[in-house]
Amino acid sequence: SDMSVGTTANMKLGEFKVHKTEGNARRATLMTAHGPVQTPVFMAVGTKATVKAMTPEELKDCGTQVVLGNTYHLHLRPGEKTIKKMGGLHKFMNWHGPILTDSGGFQVFSLSNLRKMSEEGVEFRSHLDGAKYFISPEKSMEIQMDLGSDIIMAFDECLQYPATDAEIEKSMALTYRWLLRSKAAMTRKESLLFGIVQGGLSLEHRLKSLEQVTSVDLPGYALGGFSVGEPIHLMHELLPNVAPKMPAHKPRYLMGVGTPTDLIIAIDAGIDMFDCVIPTRVARNGTIYTWQGKVSIKRTEYREDDSALDPECDCYTCKNYSKAYLRHLFLSGEILGSRLNTIHNIHFYMKLMEKAREAIAEGRWAQFRDDCLTRFVKKSK
Ligand code: GUN
Ligand code: ZN
Repeated sequence: SDMSVGTTANMKLGEFKVHKTEGNARRATLMTAHGPVQTPVFMAVGTKATVKAMTPEELKDCGTQVVLGNTYHLHLRPGEKTIKKMGGLHKFMNWHGPILTDSGGFQVFSLSNLRKMSEEGVEFRSHLDGAKYFISPEKSMEIQMDLGSDIIMAFDECLQYPATDAEIEKSMALTYRWLLRSKAAMTRKESLLFGIVQGGLSLEHRLKSLEQVTSVDLPGYALGGFSVGEPIHLMHELLPNVAPKMPAHKPRYLMGVGTPTDLIIAIDAGIDMFDCVIPTRVARNGTIYTWQGKVSIKRTEYREDDSALDPECDCYTCKNYSKAYLRHLFLSGEILGSRLNTIHNIHFYMKLMEKAREAIAEGRWAQFRDDCLTRFVKKSK
């Protein structure tokens, strides 16, 4: 179990202790200013200073260790200066565990209008009201420091798929220069700065970007540029050739990924950290992840089914409510349906990571991995 790895009491800020490995898979602990993080870890996405539909108490009860916030959204509304005045993001949202913030680059490219890229940074118009903004590496660091983030992401450019070799090369070179500027500007002692490897979906470019980014000494490194519309098999094939080449004694974070199957494949390649909107977003659309795969709560066969969503789940939703009731809430558009489905899916993702940690620690990762893949492949992607 998580307790079997010894004390974390003497760990220093930013320290990353690998307790056990099996193949490329790792069981480790990362120390942040708001406490230790047991990895592999799935971080719940709380873009606008809230994990949609869940209170911090519910997140904790589901086993959540880290919440992710977004520079882009919080800069536009309510503004990092307001959050700073309110005592920082932890106090503002009443989440007192570790917080990781994304740097804004990715969101500027996916959400904002009329972007103008330059060496200096990105000018864009807000998706909320069209107002003009400018974010540079220095500005992104200032925002994330004002938020009081425990793990700050470097300001990067995330290319869309497909991209030409020339576009990839230009973009990863810019991302590297922005990383140097991010590092110079990130002066907050309590925060850990993570660099982001780009390089598109080509192994050659990935390894070049990896070499550039890891030449900068940082407490952690991420793989960005996935989940940008590429066929998923490209990522599955790339990860085992890239993740094991990342520094062995530093955390490895795969950004914006993924399904339960993706997480198992990535852990097997040596990834330690994940975030993704999938479990929360699909819950609000009535999609439920279970140990038997993915199902829709809408199904007619659940109309008079008084069993729980997942007989193997001990979340608040499964302990107290039937499929028939959850189907009724969903079809009625009731807000409680979104809440109960989200609690279940977050609990499922956290339990999957807890079981992965235990399996690695106990030397039965390969068996656990294969069991998960046969279970999930039947009904889910
Ligand atoms: N989230 C998912 N992918 C990315 C990426 O490439 N860069 C950043 N900053 N965030 C991401
Ligand atoms: Zn459940």
